[in-house]
Amino acid sequence: MDQAIAVVPMGLGHLRQVLDLGHQVFDTTTKPYTSWSLTAVAEHLDSPDNACWVALDSDRVVGFVLGSMEFEHRDDWAYLEWIAVAPDMQGHGIARRLVDVCSEALFARGAQHIVTDVEERNGASAALMRRSGFVPAATVTLLVRTNPETPGDDPLPPIAKHDLVRRGRLSLDHPRR
Ligand SMILES: CC(C)(COP(=O)(O)OP(=O)(O)OC[C@H]1O[C@@H](n2cnc3c(N)ncnc32)[C@H](O)[C@@H]1OP(=O)(O)O)[C@@H](O)C(=O)NCCC(=O)NCCS
Repeated sequence: MDQAIAVVPMGLGHLRQVLDLGHQVFDTTTKPYTSWSLTAVAEHLDSPDNACWVALDSDRVVGFVLGSMEFEHRDDWAYLEWIAVAPDMQGHGIARRLVDVCSEALFARGAQHIVTDVEERNGASAALMRRSGFVPAATVTLLVRTNPETPGDDPLPPIAKHDLVRRGRLSLDHPRR
């Protein structure tokens, strides 16, 4: 664990670097219901009970986690939605520290459960979450039927997960307690 890296609450001054790091490392095509954008970051920062932290190497943002007390309509569930560490800084325990500080803040605010979703091919993310105490609770499979007239197209456009849930296209089961 690299203690020279400071983990501090995210502020407006970190926004540009957080956005750029996310664009560098997130592959949103693997989870087509998500999209990384300034809005995604700003909505977290705008929320009074956000749990957003950055890992700093001096002034450089080398990692971040964005969490909130908002998970669908469940008042005592929190959501750890985004986490990233710069490629040259991965493998030093920075993400573990970010998950822990974010989780502790969310539990302190009354969360009974923290939800995160992991794309099954993202081995690093799955290992991180399991090592951090997250256990599988429900499996959601996106089934895609492609228009035979346009076989080369992407299976799904990058639309917001909340839109899918609202329209009943994506359901999230209750986790085991
Ligand atoms: C996932 C990610 C944040 C992990 O960051 P990191 O700082 O390298 O993770 P850590 O060093 O804290 O490792 C945490 C644990 O996961 C394990 N781990 C990390 N990367 C791994 C990999 N590629 N394969 C297997 N295990 C891995 C580590 O061994 C460690 O376990 P330990 O504590 O028992 O030793 C980083 O790989 C990343 O930014 N990926 C791209 C963005 C992304 O996919 N984010 C998740 C979706 S929002």
